[in-house]
Amino acid sequence: MRILVTAGPTREPIDSVRFITNASSGRMGCAVASAAAKAGHDVTLLLGPCPSEPPSGCEVVRFTTAAEMKRDLESRFGDCDALVMAAAVGDFTPQTPVSGKLRRSAGPVEMRLLPTDDLLAGVAEGKRADQRIVAFAVEEGDEQQMSAAARRKLAAKGADFIVVNSPAAMSAETSRAAVLTADDVLLPWSERTKTELAAEIVGLLTASP
Ligand code: CTP
Repeated sequence: MRILVTAGPTREPIDSVRFITNASSGRMGCAVASAAAKAGHDVTLLLGPCPSEPPSGCEVVRFTTAAEMKRDLESRFGDCDALVMAAAVGDFTPQTPVSGKLRRSAGPVEMRLLPTDDLLAGVAEGKRADQRIVAFAVEEGDEQQMSAAARRKLAAKGADFIVVNSPAAMSAETSRAAVLTADDVLLPWSERTKTELAAEIVGLLTASP
């Protein structure tokens, strides 16, 4: 299979030296890319600015902003059999980044943040019947509330499976997670290492009709 994986955070510039980002370590997506490459799949990894080393055995494309990631994703989605969207895409970007360095003496500063495009929902609109999409969701509350919120996201974004976990998983070695479809539980809630969870996700993709 040709598997496209996204991983890591995005970085949105405020000025020439500052940016808005998030706590994603890139570990989960790199673990999926590694598991897929080890299983013999043809893997492309779109990787954001994070300390995680990309695994060997896959093509690596680096992005910084959500707009760059969008361009990379859109140009490659048509060629893949499956997309695993583990990247933590920033939801907001400064409307007008300051050119040069913003001086402290200029403060207080007000900044208008615009929502970014939903990259996953965008590519899923053009999904072929033979393609599979795995989304990720970071949710809060108890497991029932998190599962319900993740299923709403699955439907809204046009994905086939969704991996749901809590904010605590974002930069951790392990993840308490479940994998859901619209009406089924493919992997029940449990604490797993990201390596174990990645192997399960690749197995589900390979097994899905
Ligand atoms: N995602 C995306 N584009 C965005 C935001 C998220 O493609 N601008 C993708 C993520 O890669 C993930 C899924 O959508 O696979 C869910 O991400 P999440 O951050 O949980 O959802 P949001 O749509 O950002 O909703 P919210 O943060 O408001 O709950």
